[in-house]
Amino acid sequence: MAEYRWNQADLAAAYDRDASRVHPRYVDVQDAILNELASGNEPIHGTIVDLGGGSGRLLERVLMRWPEATAVLVDQSQSFLDLATARLAQYPGRATTHCLRLQDDWREVIPVPVAAVISTSAIHHLLPDEKRRCYQKCFDVLRPGGVFLNGDEVRDESEAEYRGHVERWAAHMQQLIDTQAVSPAMADALRGWQRRNVEQAGQPRASGDDCHETAASQLAYLRDAGFVDTAVVWQRELWSVLRGRRAN
Ligand SMILES: C[S@@+](CC[C@H](N)C(=O)[O-])C[C@H]1O[C@@H](n2cnc3c(N)ncnc32)[C@H](O)[C@@H]1O
Repeated sequence: MAEYRWNQADLAAAYDRDASRVHPRYVDVQDAILNELASGNEPIHGTIVDLGGGSGRLLERVLMRWPEATAVLVDQSQSFLDLATARLAQYPGRATTHCLRLQDDWREVIPVPVAAVISTSAIHHLLPDEKRRCYQKCFDVLRPGGVFLNGDEVRDESEAEYRGHVERWAAHMQQLIDTQAVSPAMADALRGWQRRNVEQAGQPRASGDDCHETAASQLAYLRDAGFVDTAVVWQRELWSVLRGRRAN
């Protein structure tokens, strides 16, 4: 079986360097998550878990902003985890990283209960049933009042709107490839995204593909898992931040 694309060291390095150019809303999604975390009545303290946390850029911002917080990063790619470990070393004793798939029982490595579970651009790689099981695990590890926030690629209810968002992002990727603004490893990854989402649009998805689902479907999964206060708290083009809260 082909190696999962996220496990290549050169792609991990390229994503760490270039994500904010490749993903036009990369920083906006992070900002929306931080704003939502900050909107509670209490200061953030305790553990924040980042699922598919990659090279640790979002947790770096969390630890910088909330000195009472600690962080747990879960990701299946050792290449990304190596970058995250190096980045988060600036906060000694406040961050741990774990090489696990979101399909695994990552609850075993989490010091429960946690204040928040966050994620960006990772959970859409899971098939519908895998998402459901993952959302259940998120609910299980949260403390009462704790929040789950997923900033991710989300399918629009309107197929035409969705296709427009996909095609505009694919065109943006093509411009980066044509102008050699990204490394060969990133260009390959972008061509893969274009192939899966433009040329093979509508074809069945396998785990690890871009398994885009609507906000309504995913908010229903969250409610089924036990979450309350479910909502889309931010949305631009292909990206939304979905929220669920564990009741007090
Ligand atoms: C697009 S990158 C996003 C990284 C990071 N969240 C960010 O926003 O910078 C996708 C990340 O999800 C991770 N990932 C993809 N599928 C996963 C899975 N099934 N289990 C755990 N991590 C996964 C990849 O290893 C990679 O680090």
